[in-house]
Amino acid sequence: MSSDRYLARRTKLIQAIRKADLSALLVTNPKNVSYLTGFSGEDSHLLIGPGRTHFFSDSRFETQLQDECPGLTVEIRTSRTLMHDFLAEWLPKFGLSNLGIESSSMVVSLHNQLTESLKPLPLVPKAGLVEELRLIKDSDEVTELRRAVHQAERGFELMRSLILPDQTERQASHELEHGMRRFGATRAAFEPIIAVGDRAALPHYRAGMRTFRESGFALIDWGALSARGYHSDLTRILVTSKLPTKLAHVYGVVLKAQLAGIAAIRPGAKCQDVDAAARKVIEQAGFGKHFGHGLGHGIGLDIHEGPKLSPISTDVLKPGMTVTVEPGIYLPGMGGVRIEDDVLVTRDGCEVLTSLPKDVPLTVC
Ligand code: GLY
Ligand code: MN
Ligand code: MN
Repeated sequence: MSSDRYLARRTKLIQAIRKADLSALLVTNPKNVSYLTGFSGEDSHLLIGPGRTHFFSDSRFETQLQDECPGLTVEIRTSRTLMHDFLAEWLPKFGLSNLGIESSSMVVSLHNQLTESLKPLPLVPKAGLVEELRLIKDSDEVTELRRAVHQAERGFELMRSLILPDQTERQASHELEHGMRRFGATRAAFEPIIAVGDRAALPHYRAGMRTFRESGFALIDWGALSARGYHSDLTRILVTSKLPTKLAHVYGVVLKAQLAGIAAIRPGAKCQDVDAAARKVIEQAGFGKHFGHGLGHGIGLDIHEGPKLSPISTDVLKPGMTVTVEPGIYLPGMGGVRIEDDVLVTRDGCEVLTSLPKDVPLTVC
């Protein structure tokens, strides 16, 4: 990504900082730091506000910063100074009248240390200033999300071609991650959920020691982390021998619900209405109490970010947002079905970024 891209993001943030009556914001969330600067390391903070952009890091990252963030003003601490002492030494030089802090990510100990050492400078808790910008993906981010989807789908297809009846969920998870890495992923976006048989009734099960032979189907929820840190997130049902008749019926209901949710996605749509469009299908089929989670969530630098598609969401969709659509029905003791795709909100509707077939459950090759 070009340094102009990061500059444009910082310029937008400075407008928000002005609007919030802050002299500056101390960005401590590593994903937000990366979003604003392109820095891929850790333990580094960005002070940003009208007329000032200062990056605080340590000597491990000095060369990396020259490569990744050309033109940024960087202060490097050595191992003789702790980060909070370094900040306490630097921040008073800027003549701030207050300092915004990222209240949803700053740890209490750093907050306490800075409150004490920067006295009488008021620290103003502010959540979501950068996250608000991150809701709308720019074209570079959409390209990166497409890559993450491609890596997940190609990795899955490779794993699917290699499944053996005696393989455990955990072994398949290993194959899946290996496959995604072969197609360019940094790693899996999260620990894959590979749930054989009745384990599929646990929405956030982790791959365990069940073998595929122990049942006729599995729920697989996985994603890839792209080289630049973007996440994809998909779910499919894989039939290794046979799907129980009741779950075959449930599959049809979940698919209808998912298509209804996707059809409701367009700019201006309320996220709770998108959730309702899918939920209604499941409720009308008599499975309402078996769909306990929200319909979906934003994806990007985090695997779960805004906007939220849920019955209590107050978010409204805008072009450039990317969300998952993932209704599920979970029947304890029997299994479950979830179908999950990644969707980009476009100027006049939406585009489904994922392309793995879903009309019927996938089978092993
Ligand atoms: N993979 C977790 C989720 O679908 O949200
Ligand atoms: Mn998922
Ligand atoms: Mn998801």
